[in-house]
Amino acid sequence: MSRLRLAAAKGQKARVETLEKSIQPRKRLKTLKQEPDTLCPSSSYHSFSDPAEVVQLQSQLLHWYDREKRELPWRTLAITESDINIRTYAVWVSEIMLQQTQVATVKDYYNRWMKRWPTVQDLASATIEEVNQMWAGLGYYSRGRRLHEGAQKVVSELEGQMPRTVEDLLKQLPGVGRYTASAIGSIALGQVTGAVDGNVIRVLCRLRAIGADSTSPPVTEALWSLANLLVDPKRPGDFNQAMMELGARVCTPKGPLCSQCPVQSHCHSYHKVHLKQEQNAKKLLGKMDIPDIEDCISSEHSGACSLCPSEPWDDQLGVQNFPRKPAKKAPRVERTLTCVVTRPVEDGEEYLLVQRPDKGLLAGLWEFPSLLQQESNAEVKHRKALCEEVNRILRSCLNEHLLQYVGEVVHIFSHIHQTYVVYSLCLKEKDVTQLQTEKEKWMSGSGLQEAAVSTGLKKILKLFHSVNSLKDKNSKDGKRQKPEGLKDGKRSQRTKKSKMTAADGGRQRSLSSFFKPVKKEEEEEDS
Ligand code: ADE
Repeated sequence: MSRLRLAAAKGQKARVETLEKSIQPRKRLKTLKQEPDTLCPSSSYHSFSDPAEVVQLQSQLLHWYDREKRELPWRTLAITESDINIRTYAVWVSEIMLQQTQVATVKDYYNRWMKRWPTVQDLASATIEEVNQMWAGLGYYSRGRRLHEGAQKVVSELEGQMPRTVEDLLKQLPGVGRYTASAIGSIALGQVTGAVDGNVIRVLCRLRAIGADSTSPPVTEALWSLANLLVDPKRPGDFNQAMMELGARVCTPKGPLCSQCPVQSHCHSYHKVHLKQEQNAKKLLGKMDIPDIEDCISSEHSGACSLCPSEPWDDQLGVQNFPRKPAKKAPRVERTLTCVVTRPVEDGEEYLLVQRPDKGLLAGLWEFPSLLQQESNAEVKHRKALCEEVNRILRSCLNEHLLQYVGEVVHIFSHIHQTYVVYSLCLKEKDVTQLQTEKEKWMSGSGLQEAAVSTGLKKILKLFHSVNSLKDKNSKDGKRQKPEGLKDGKRSQRTKKSKMTAADGGRQRSLSSFFKPVKKEEEEEDS
């Protein structure tokens, strides 16, 4: 080993020891209690006990990253921005946007955000309405609100200075948890800390064959200890981003590209898959000298390791045996009645929008008048209830028969399977009344495109337009027959599968294209 590597390896030793201490068998057998050396035999299998191996892994991963990394706007800023406040702010914004959202989606939002609010002071002086507007479509809207709140705190309480340590980032900034603080600290401030996000969990679990529930406390602690042990002290930010990059592009949840992995030689899962394949082949040929698979000794002896899988190995899954997560809770199923109310104006029409409460799901966003559908209500009751809601907002007494059934839109949130049952109500000039509060307003079509609205609302609007254009076409063609979805109040004639959905978009389509099953849409909000 070269002198340089030896020196670096020495530096790793203390951290290796810390990790070994942190990994505890779930249950210790009484007989093992007297033997401290074998008390924690799983630690070396699920960790890196050789500091030289750590140095080698760091070097292989960083070489790969330097060659293969994607040029991303926040990475460029983290390298080129010399002002520590701007750099920290820029990385903070990127990390918040990247929570629960893919890199490809974040890029445009990030560039627009940084152009509009290049410093924490700029963001602090924006209004929450502007922030929501900028965030519209990105989902998980509380993230934008917290960034705004945090920026105002930095300006008003911290004299405009961004926190300078992981600990202070965690303490001072709302919405910043252990991962985000560590990512910002390492990338923007060069702090030597690991950062464990979803991608890194997968990489580490596979590298060290950690197959117990990856959300359990002992696994979480072991993963953080591993990340802290592996991080390269000379390039902590790059190392952490390289781990994320590896998880996003090579060590993927499905179809991992093990042949392209720069750290394949350190991967217990990879070795395990290959040895299992060899064993199976030998078994088929009736050979007896089947090699042992290196495994966690603690688990083999007592079945008591808190990091080993509790479920049996599945040959079909290969390295995807790791990590394991508990099954997701089934989402709550909800149906919401919603009414697209329009009024005529000189150059077209305007839509009635209502602002959601400041807290909770889609807080502060604008939506069409809506009502949670009560179970077992018949359609006549839905129509009546929704019309009452519109009358309440407009202080009008419109008749429920003016509401036209439009169709259904399905939107999947992380915890709710939402179906919007869409009606429309086209007001005549004489019906139009003044709105009473700031939480209700009329918006033009172009205003709506720019406003702080959810993806669900945009889908509803698309459906509304596609049905309207179909109606227009039919009336121009002189056709009498409408599709079922357009027959006011006669939904019951259609089967569940044949409901119109916004999945068809706003384009003019053949009638048959409206009769496809409801498509699953993307996840959006968590609060
Ligand atoms: N996900 C979270 N942080 C990231 C980063 N800095 N680069 C790419 N993906 C990420």
